[in-house]
Amino acid sequence: MLGLKLLTDPRWANIAEGNLEEILTDHAWCEQKAASNAISLITNNSEHEDLVHELTAIAIEEMEHFKMVIDIIKERGYTLGRERKDDYVGQLMKFSKKRWQPEYGFYRQTTICCDD
Ligand SMILES: [Fe+2]
Repeated sequence: MLGLKLLTDPRWANIAEGNLEEILTDHAWCEQKAASNAISLITNNSEHEDLVHELTAIAIEEMEHFKMVIDIIKERGYTLGRERKDDYVGQLMKFSKKRWQPEYGFYRQTTICCDD
């Protein structure tokens, strides 16, 4: 169905099956973070009308995904756990904030962040 080139390693599938509540919780928070990042980009780039329009659609779509995942969590009788901090993402955000200069536009800022 997905056109994968390799079979899924059964060891991974067994681990995932045994931690479904945790995996669904992580998935839910990933959707929420995607929406939050889109909203932050809107806040920091409000002068770019086209960008605001596109990011608004993305934020709404990602929150719809969040709702789909929390509905599955509820259907299975699970509880949405707390957000888990990811050290890699934390370091990446710290790195990009250190280089954030509001006088630069969104596109230039993205280039600067990804150029290092
Ligand atoms: Fe999503």
